[in-house]
Amino acid sequence: MDLVVVSNRVARAKANEPMTGGLAAALLPVVEKSGAIWVGSSGRVRDNATKDSFAEIETLGTGALALLDLPAAHYGGYYEGFANSALWPALHSRTDLIKVSQDDYQSYREVNAFMARALMRFRKPSAMFWIQDYHFLALGAEMRDLGVRNPIGFFLHTPWPARRVISGVPHHRELVEAMLAYDLIGFQTDDDRENFANYLRLDLNLDVDHGVVTSRFGTSRLATFPIGIDVDGFAAQAQRAASHPDVSRLRKSLHGERLAIGVDRVDYSKGLVNRISAFDRLFEMQPSLKRTVSLLQIATPSRGGIEAYSSLQDALSKQVTDVNGRHGEVDWAPIRYLSKGFSQTVLAGFYRAAQVGVVTPLHDGMNLVAKEYVAAQNPIDPGVLVLSKFAGAANELDTALLVNPHDIDGMARTIATALSMPATERRMRWEAMMAKLRAGTIHDWFASFIAALETTQARIGPNLPSAMVRPLRAVGAPVFH
Ligand code: G6P
Repeated sequence: MDLVVVSNRVARAKANEPMTGGLAAALLPVVEKSGAIWVGSSGRVRDNATKDSFAEIETLGTGALALLDLPAAHYGGYYEGFANSALWPALHSRTDLIKVSQDDYQSYREVNAFMARALMRFRKPSAMFWIQDYHFLALGAEMRDLGVRNPIGFFLHTPWPARRVISGVPHHRELVEAMLAYDLIGFQTDDDRENFANYLRLDLNLDVDHGVVTSRFGTSRLATFPIGIDVDGFAAQAQRAASHPDVSRLRKSLHGERLAIGVDRVDYSKGLVNRISAFDRLFEMQPSLKRTVSLLQIATPSRGGIEAYSSLQDALSKQVTDVNGRHGEVDWAPIRYLSKGFSQTVLAGFYRAAQVGVVTPLHDGMNLVAKEYVAAQNPIDPGVLVLSKFAGAANELDTALLVNPHDIDGMARTIATALSMPATERRMRWEAMMAKLRAGTIHDWFASFIAALETTQARIGPNLPSAMVRPLRAVGAPVFH
């Protein structure tokens, strides 16, 4: 089997560099071991990009990383436009933030078609393609248009919302129809999968029977594959990281004070404003906690060219200044706010140094920070995870302290509970979470998706029987050229 993994953002195997987003961090170790080719954006654009525009192909573990310059004329409309100003907000149930034009949609489709043409370079009879995330909903359909019969799977790293919510995305119908070109469509949670199935049933009038849907394009299977982490690898990394200079400096700076930690991209789905408000409330409700605990919030700037993101960055800076100004003292700040990224190694060490992990998104596909925080803990003296019930990770990590991120007082009380939790209870909760993490590692996720993709095609045949191959644009979608 020759596996080709495709995502917009890829990661490079440099242990000391920060990585952006859960997808890249999660895929790196498994792609390295699997011998797959990982294809993604080089981060650069090129005028008149052609199918030969692979900027670099480099070794990655036993496989390779193939980086593609995307077409300059369409990159903005694709990435900042349709992917991150229509799909991302809708997938996270923030349709109020949708801001796109028809040109953005056209650019999104052009980049999907461009990627499909570029992938032809890796087409062999034995190839299997695995497409990642919302940037490439229509990529499978474009590949089928080029005659590809090989197995093509798709995994969505974000949530899939209720049907009324996704209907807020312009062209939602043709995009979901295009997704049915995939043989296997994977989701993080059963709720996401059910939301998608309901859309198929009620908006597209299709029968979904035991997760199998037959459309005029062939047969696709819907299934849930909760993504995991390399639990033991991350635990070992956290232990080793104790001697890293950044981690030692953090520990020394605490002078016996306890630490809560949050690590997020600056994104409105992450609930950062509510989290800072909860710490504000905590110090109002229990002033005796001042100087005994502070929050280290690592807030990596993200998608800064989009107004919803740049204004959130500004709002957070102001909020942190306000909270520190009111509760801080000459030698103490309640919130240490760092607008930059750190390597996985340093983060592992930071997690282990923190008595509380706060992961409080308003909506999140999985959230691997929650899983990494747990894996990084010292088994004898583990910290407590405060976790939003709206993160996919809450399904497995149900012995964390689960919170509603909209309930600021409730979060403040839960953080106080975490700080006073006895060691026996901390250990009990932590062991239960570790057992869940070990039962579903990133290696299991990868292997089970690939096994399902292989059996899906073996059982039900290629997604597109040749008689049914028809360009998607011929079935009612608008023509742009
Ligand atoms: C989320 C998405 C990923 C994305 C990451 C970082 O985790 O699911 O697909 O790569 O955010 O976002 P960025 O836009 O910087 O790639």
